[in-house]
Amino acid sequence: MNAVNLLLPEKEDNPEWDSGTAELGHILQPGHLDLSHKVILYLEDITVSFDGFRALNKLSLTIDAGELRCIIGPNGAGKTTMMDVITGKTRPDEGTVFFGQTIDLTRLSEPEIAHAGIGRKFQKPTIFENHTVFENLELAMKTDKRVWRSLFAVLDSAAGDRIAETLQLIRLDGQANRLAGLLSHGQKQWLEIGMLLMQEPKLLLLDEPVAGMTDEETERTGELFISLAGRHSLVVVEHDMAFVKQLGGKVTVLHEGSLLAEGTLEEVQADARVIEVYLGR
Ligand SMILES: Nc1ncnc2c1ncn2[C@@H]1O[C@H](COP(=O)(O)OP(=O)(O)OP(=O)(O)O)[C@@H](O)[C@H]1O
Ligand SMILES: [Mg+2]
Repeated sequence: MNAVNLLLPEKEDNPEWDSGTAELGHILQPGHLDLSHKVILYLEDITVSFDGFRALNKLSLTIDAGELRCIIGPNGAGKTTMMDVITGKTRPDEGTVFFGQTIDLTRLSEPEIAHAGIGRKFQKPTIFENHTVFENLELAMKTDKRVWRSLFAVLDSAAGDRIAETLQLIRLDGQANRLAGLLSHGQKQWLEIGMLLMQEPKLLLLDEPVAGMTDEETERTGELFISLAGRHSLVVVEHDMAFVKQLGGKVTVLHEGSLLAEGTLEEVQADARVIEVYLGR
């Protein structure tokens, strides 16, 4: 997704930008996200079929603004497919997906969805290994490309402050001038999260973000996510239950493409249907 994020269509390259429809103009204006009902993401009756197999089956889900939500479920439950639908990678056969009250995500392209304020982190970090940590964050920044060109990449102080702030948040402030390729696996993951943050997303989607991390890196990542909640909304897909417990938010359990249970981790872990799908594997 970073590749998409970093290569946002330029105005002149994308006819849709110039279509002049009030609606599209509204959609693409950052800051116009309507959170009046405190809901940032709303999925209703989403069905996705692959050759007749229902990867998602009438899935409905609501994420509140500022929430930190964990999505769990056995392999093949449809967790990644759900993220594909939100980011526009997969179009649902049926159902609606709303970002805030007014933005219908099923009508936007992947770059438009990223631009509207949804950032996604895939499992494999897609950082620029031959650039420094600082340069990676600089490259990820949301800037008007025309202004960028005219400034010849001279960084204004506000941008510099934002990079410094992000470096601290992702605990890489001591590594700013290091080549990204030399970072540990966990640090690379943090750098990618930092790159997403430079785009100022309202909603962050993270698919198995701590896979392959050491226990200590996992715990640091949990602290980072907790600190991001409120200012951002986060949807975290994870199999690591210790991590889900640390995050402490509401947990949604998916099974066979539908919502099986929702509640605190303790509540869903005590749910007989949840126990059955996990033990029945
Ligand atoms: N492009 C596709 N074509 C055909 N089937 C697919 C496709 N993408 C996903 N599926 C199937 O849809 C189901 C849900 O897959 P998905 O990747 O969403 O599960 P998941 O919950 O993310 O699982 P995991 O925990 O293993 O990552 C699986 O049975 C998968 O094989
Ligand atoms: Mg998956």
